[in-house]
Amino acid sequence: MALVTFSSPEFKDKTVYAVAGSHTETILKLAKTNKIPVKFDCGDGECGSCVVRVTSIDRKPVRMGAHLTEKEKEVLRQLGKLTKDELENIVVNDLPCEWRLACQMIVRDEDILVEY
Ligand code: FES
Repeated sequence: MALVTFSSPEFKDKTVYAVAGSHTETILKLAKTNKIPVKFDCGDGECGSCVVRVTSIDRKPVRMGAHLTEKEKEVLRQLGKLTKDELENIVVNDLPCEWRLACQMIVRDEDILVEY
C-alpha cells in the first residue's frame, strides 16, 4: 500500500491509498477513481497536459528511481521539464524524476506527493 497525496492550489489536499505493484494503476487512474481533478487530454502519454510534480513523503530516505516511459521522456523534453543531460543522468543512475506524466506513471510502493 502506498499513500498518494494530491495537492493543488485550487483544491483541498487529498490523500488516498494506492495498491502498489499492480503495474496498471497510474496516477491519473488513481486520481479519476478518487474524483481528483487532475487535468488530462489524451490519456496516452502524447499531449503532456497531465504533467505533475512528484516528490517523496516516504519514510524511506531515498526515493525510488524514475522508470520513465519512452513517451514520458519525449514529452517531458518537449515541455522543457528535462534537458537531454538531465534525462541521461536519470536513466543511467536510476534517479527519481520530479516531473512525470500522470497518465504514464505507475504507482509504486512509495508514499508520494503529487502536485497538479
Ligand atoms: S494525458 Fe496526454 S500525456 Fe497524459
